[in-house]
Amino acid sequence: MNKILLALTAGLLGPALAATPAYTKAQADAGAKVYKAQCAACHGAKLNNGGAPKLAGTDFLKKWSQNTLDDFFFIESHTMPQTNPGGLKESEYLNALAYILQENGFKPGKDALAVKNLKSYTFKK
Ligand code: HEC
Repeated sequence: MNKILLALTAGLLGPALAATPAYTKAQADAGAKVYKAQCAACHGAKLNNGGAPKLAGTDFLKKWSQNTLDDFFFIESHTMPQTNPGGLKESEYLNALAYILQENGFKPGKDALAVKNLKSYTFKK
């Protein structure tokens, strides 16, 4: 419950220090495997061609432009995969997010995506 309140508060306050998300190619590559095995069946192999909500593309980026990656991670790691909510490791959720960033045109770099930094990132380019 506290976590839900925290997530809501974070959403209301919005990103204080929005920065371009950092992640490594290795994280995205590992995330691609997680995505294929755990997410693609519902969200589609291209992230926006399944029955479930789109996780890539213009509409997705617009929908998520007001939220931090922490909000996204909260939903992802507590409610997904829909058939096994919260069932993956934290690193698997994080790597899947790195892959989703890559597929939305964000560039990898030398700094890894870390849970503690998610509040300062958004999907805004
Ligand atoms: C069994 C089907 C299924 C699987 C597998 C699945 N999802 Fe979902 N996902 C859904 C459905 C359906 C929704 C919409 C749920 C809702 O709105 O209550 C959703 C919603 C989401 C959302 C919220 C999107 C938005 O814009 O509202 C995210 C993020 C997400 N899924 C990520 C993932 C990730 C990452 C994985 C793999 C680790 C995954 N999902 C696996 C069916 C699935």
